[in-house]
Amino acid sequence: MNDLQKYFEANTGRLVHKWMHYFEVYDRHFSRFRGTDVHVLEFGVSQGGSLDMWRDYFGPHCKLFGADINPLCKSLERDDTRIFIGDQEDRGFLRSLAAQIPRIDILIDDGGHTMGQQIATFEELFGRISPNGVYLCEDIHTAYWKRWGGGYRRRGTFVEYAKDFIDRIHAWHSETPDLKVDEFTRSVHSLHWYDSVLVIEKRPMQPPEHRKTGTASIADYVPPSWRASGRLKSKLRQAMGLDKQRR
Ligand SMILES: C[S@@+](CC[C@H](N)C(=O)[O-])C[C@H]1O[C@@H](n2cnc3c(N)ncnc32)[C@H](O)[C@@H]1O
Repeated sequence: MNDLQKYFEANTGRLVHKWMHYFEVYDRHFSRFRGTDVHVLEFGVSQGGSLDMWRDYFGPHCKLFGADINPLCKSLERDDTRIFIGDQEDRGFLRSLAAQIPRIDILIDDGGHTMGQQIATFEELFGRISPNGVYLCEDIHTAYWKRWGGGYRRRGTFVEYAKDFIDRIHAWHSETPDLKVDEFTRSVHSLHWYDSVLVIEKRPMQPPEHRKTGTASIADYVPPSWRASGRLKSKLRQAMGLDKQRR
């Protein structure tokens, strides 16, 4: 059991509501920020219990920000925890919130979980996450629930929207102008898909390079499927590092 789950199990304070398998995910991606002045923004304040949990986990130097549509959540604000009231689907609200927070190292989207809310929040705030920060959107299983605007492979769900991210981190290898290296490609180190959670780890990225070390002792095998055309041959030569890769 990690410290977050221990806190949760022992909690007799303000109510926290979490799926149990999230604790491992949080700890895996957030532990490197513990004890630092990490700036955390959580959508979905509810009873304020998760904000208390984050303070306990990240320590006294962290800066916490919460956002919720429920005006009563404002009463949960404390000296060390600022709370913004608004609708996370309202891009004006998101921009004004971003303007009032010095930086965002971690964003946790545990708000209303509709497709429009998740997408608007991502589109307005992902660019505001620190270069080595983390964006975590949880309860993305609503992408499969009709009442939240979801449905299996339905256009416009957050899951369908975010599948595009897989292409975008591979844009370095693209052979079509439809897929170009962009800010997302340059700033995202990795995507981590879990049941109901997507975590995006940012890191300034350089074009990938491959190298070889050691000495070859046998002739390389060229599979028949790679022998077919001049273009495939050139791909093979690239893959083997004989030709310089095009970018
Ligand atoms: C799942 S609860 C948050 C749980 C809390 N983070 C916890 O771990 O205990 C979802 C919260 O999102 C808020 N919410 C719903 N729709 C919203 C919206 N459009 N914008 C911002 N917050 C919203 C609700 O008021 C509710 O407090």
